[in-house]
Amino acid sequence: MNQTKHCITIGFLIFLELLFMVLCHAEHNSPVSGISNSDPKFLSPLGLLSTPRLLKKDIPEELKDAKHGIVMGVSSEKCDNGKVNITKDWDGSPPPHYCMDTIVQYNSAIPTYEGHRPLWPIFGEYQFVPPQRWLHNIEHGAIVMLYHPCAEPSEILKLKKLVKSCLWKYVITPWNKMSRELPFALVAWGCRLQMAKVDTGIVRYFIRSKAFRGPESHYLKQGQFSVGLIEVSNPPSDPSLDKVLC
Ligand SMILES: *[C@@H]1O[C@H](CO)[C@@H](O)[C@H](O)[C@H]1NC(C)=O
Repeated sequence: MNQTKHCITIGFLIFLELLFMVLCHAEHNSPVSGISNSDPKFLSPLGLLSTPRLLKKDIPEELKDAKHGIVMGVSSEKCDNGKVNITKDWDGSPPPHYCMDTIVQYNSAIPTYEGHRPLWPIFGEYQFVPPQRWLHNIEHGAIVMLYHPCAEPSEILKLKKLVKSCLWKYVITPWNKMSRELPFALVAWGCRLQMAKVDTGIVRYFIRSKAFRGPESHYLKQGQFSVGLIEVSNPPSDPSLDKVLC
């Protein structure tokens, strides 16, 4: 009887393991990935809901802890010394790039760190440009301004003027996937600010603290994509002036 129970338990664990492997595989092959506005440096490519692979029986005797499972805060060569195998959580790779033979979709209306196309928009204001393009601009430290096309025109104008007066690395585009209650958004690498009304102080604070924080912010190369471009942003004559100006 005991043996049967044991077999069922083992069988169940194997099933969980297989399920985990299938889910991981699906995640890696899918261009549709999860969205978060937390710091991308700490995002796990496997997602945060994966089942831990380590089973209790793998814990070395001296590291067992009744309350936490594993004794916490103790560096160990047998378990976790903060150096070995750390790429299992994150391998440091940037978001993937996709050719036009692949559809790229996002789980969030306002992605902040996801896979995208290799050609990125010239900095400036657009009639419309999709996130599949501008996600690369925020990797270069840009600020993207999104507004619902039916938002209050005077508020749209106010936000455009503010953004344009703050920095040259910007992309401005309407985006109808935002709610009418929060019709304005600013997006920087890994974060977004959504607004019901344009507040000058908050907008400037966001741009000052979040612009030029992408992993390739020092990169000055202009974009190559210009479909829908209405007005090109004026780059500073001196690249060392490539800073937030407001
Ligand atoms: C590191 O990973 C390898 C392969 O999974 C494993 O054999 C090894 O035990 C791991 N080392 C530690 C310290 O966990």
